[in-house]
Amino acid sequence: MKLDLTGTTALVTGSTQGIGLAIATGLADAGAHVIVNGRRAESADAAAEAIRSAVAGAQVATLVADLATEEGAGTAAELFPDVDILINNLGIFGSQDALEISDDEWRRYFETNVLSAVRLTRTYLPRMMERGWGRVQYIASDSAFVTPIEMIHYGVSKTALLGVSRGFAKVAAGSGVTVNSVIAGPTHTGGVEDLVYELIDRSVPWDEAQRRFMAEHRPQSLLQRLIEPEEISNMVVYLSSRQASATTGGAVRVDGGYVDSIAP
Ligand SMILES: NC(=O)c1ccc[n+]([C@@H]2O[C@H](COP(=O)([O-])OP(=O)(O)OC[C@H]3O[C@@H](n4cnc5c(N)ncnc54)[C@H](OP(=O)(O)O)[C@@H]3O)[C@@H](O)[C@H]2O)c1
Repeated sequence: MKLDLTGTTALVTGSTQGIGLAIATGLADAGAHVIVNGRRAESADAAAEAIRSAVAGAQVATLVADLATEEGAGTAAELFPDVDILINNLGIFGSQDALEISDDEWRRYFETNVLSAVRLTRTYLPRMMERGWGRVQYIASDSAFVTPIEMIHYGVSKTALLGVSRGFAKVAAGSGVTVNSVIAGPTHTGGVEDLVYELIDRSVPWDEAQRRFMAEHRPQSLLQRLIEPEEISNMVVYLSSRQASATTGGAVRVDGGYVDSIAP
């Protein structure tokens, strides 16, 4: 299967590192003109440069904006009024005691992980529907299904995204635009590497630290290793492609079998 996104423009939110950067790189490799996003020009420029070195001839633009805010979404709409592919990857996570966390923190998680994606979907979906083609995706998490006791606020935000995704897929019904969620499992990003080394001594080599982390802290993973960001990107690029035309309103797992369920 040859996935060719030549002639399309893709915005990947929160893409200066981690899964977002891998997605932007994968989309660029398939020929899309990609827009990388972060809050600082320095990291956005560095991400754009990394994509250009990984993909010869990549077309990359940067969007420096805090997309957790209304103002940031306004900047996106002003600088890039039209995209064909919107990947709502932006998401924050962190542990907080469920009985101590403040209302403001709950709001921050909702604004960043849910409302940011809703705003951008409202911005870009109508023109995709008018044109009769487009792709919208939300990067959800195993935590959408298995609510983590140490971050209920995060899990709930990802559960909400599944509803947002299903709802907007209905809005786009029959238009040629597909809307889906990708359920990412534990992935080898900088933040997760830090978490591994908080639990396992830093002197332990990475492969062994990862093996112990998975065995002791993520035993339900069938993969028994962290997922590499490129493995999430592969699914996102496929769902962005013309070939994925009959997949909409769904939630697709790239979780290494982490969620112990035969559905979805
Ligand atoms: N890592 C995992 O194991 C895992 C598992 C399941 C799901 N996920 C989901 O996958 C997505 C990506 O996670 P990740 O671990 O790759 O993230 P990450 O490494 O923490 O990267 C976050 C990215 O978002 C940007 N960012 C943060 N706040 C922003 C804001 N308000 N406006 C614009 N950009 C912002 C950061 O750039 P700047 O700092 O330059 O602004 C950075 O590029 C998230 O939705 C996460 O919930 C991750």
